[in-house]
Amino acid sequence: MATPISTICLLRFLLYVSLLSLKSGFAFEGRESAESHHVQPTHHNVHITSLMPSSVCSPSPKGHDQRASLEVVHKHGPCSKLRPHKANSPSHTQILAQDESRVASIQSRLAKNLAGGSNLKASKATLPSKSASTLGTGNYVVTVGLGSPKRDLTLIFDTGSDITWTQCQPCVKYCYQQQEHIFDPSTSLSYSNVSCDSPSCKKLKSATGNSPSCSSSTCLYGIRYGDGSYSVGFFAKEKLSLTSTDVFNNFQFGCGQNNSGLFGSTAGLLGLARNPLSLVSQTAQKYGKIFSYCLPSSSSSTGHLSFGSGDGDSKAVKFTPSEVNSDYPSFYFLNMVGISIGGRKLPIPKSVFSTTRNVIDSGTVISRLPPTIYSSVQKVFRELMSDYPRVNGVSIFDTCYDLSKYKTVKVPKIILYFSGGAEMDLAAEGIVYVLKASQVCLAFAGNSNDDEVAIIGNVQQKTIRVVYDDAEGRVGFAPRGCN
Ligand SMILES: *[C@@H]1O[C@H](CO)[C@@H](O)[C@H](O)[C@H]1NC(C)=O
Ligand SMILES: *[C@@H]1O[C@H](CO)[C@@H](O)[C@H](O)[C@H]1NC(C)=O
Repeated sequence: MATPISTICLLRFLLYVSLLSLKSGFAFEGRESAESHHVQPTHHNVHITSLMPSSVCSPSPKGHDQRASLEVVHKHGPCSKLRPHKANSPSHTQILAQDESRVASIQSRLAKNLAGGSNLKASKATLPSKSASTLGTGNYVVTVGLGSPKRDLTLIFDTGSDITWTQCQPCVKYCYQQQEHIFDPSTSLSYSNVSCDSPSCKKLKSATGNSPSCSSSTCLYGIRYGDGSYSVGFFAKEKLSLTSTDVFNNFQFGCGQNNSGLFGSTAGLLGLARNPLSLVSQTAQKYGKIFSYCLPSSSSSTGHLSFGSGDGDSKAVKFTPSEVNSDYPSFYFLNMVGISIGGRKLPIPKSVFSTTRNVIDSGTVISRLPPTIYSSVQKVFRELMSDYPRVNGVSIFDTCYDLSKYKTVKVPKIILYFSGGAEMDLAAEGIVYVLKASQVCLAFAGNSNDDEVAIIGNVQQKTIRVVYDDAEGRVGFAPRGCN
């Protein structure tokens, strides 16, 4: 599958041209009136096979901007160095079940104060720990260098987590199996422990949900995730090399001595949330709290995670405010204001959007919408897909099709609109989730009630460059950030 990229690009271009000449039956209304002058394509025409990951890695071309940039790959795909990936790969239904537990833990963290907890469903309230952090398996990884001399470590990156940690020798209690050598502080010249009375030790409470403890004056962190996974160990400082030129001395991280859970064979986790201990905050002097990523269209392609502001940001990227909520300082909240499907603006009252809280998250797989919004999405999607045979739903999906008899299908475009004029024009891979050709599902799910937070998951973010600018308190989107 080395050549199809250019073929697909050409096909997309030709389709775009031919769609431009088709008259769209649906007009935008209201806010979008300025955009209704030019007719937008209403469908993605997609080759079914292009939605299936290949067993060969076809990396996205390298961008030519000057920022520090790391290659992003899906944990389980052929582009990942974490092998053998086949045997460890969870099934689709396992991924979706684990996604439910991540979403449940986000809902439980966010439900406590804002909704008063009263509307919380019992099933979601009985999670192992109220303060549990979030984790899922649909994650993406990057490789960074730690220590001197530096060791390469492949970490899950997560906008829903604050602290960065990796498993550390001598694994006093327990380390799970990881692909790379487990980091050994005794072989690094730049490692030091954080002491119990240092200010950063005290910040652990808000970053992990747990008060730090102390062992012979060394600060101990402990973080537990919603699914029961955890990492416990020494809070430490070390030289972090994001790239060969972007090196940070005294980066604070967890040196895990007791680790267990759904981390695959990665070495740990890179925290990109908003807390003062996150990577974003610790590198603020150099990067101004700006980073961006593009998640690849499939596990057989690559994306990037970049730090600092790029040249093209002001032009291509449209931003929406992302205020810090002092009750939940880690999360990136957004204001969704509308959704269109196949060029049709969904007839949902503005008040439904304005009363729904949204977060964007790199670790949730499938976006969750309040039931009122989801049912409207589902209804219009089904109407526009009525040419294709429906099949039973599976797991969290209730709108699935058997597309095994088709070479190409018309997938209605979905655009999510945010306050301030930002929009996410979803790639086809962000609209449908392919379990197999005979089971292709609308890649959204409904929350159990309208009080729960809406979550923009990583499937919907595929190929879109997502820019987090926490200095300005905003998040932006630009189309076609990677393949
Ligand atoms: C590791 O940490 C977990 C969570 O705190 C704890 O339940 C478990 O007993 C610890 N394991 C050992 C061997 O100390
Ligand atoms: C860090 O602290 C632990 C626990 O007190 C200790 O075993 C280890 O030797 C310390 N490492 C360094 C480099 O001081």
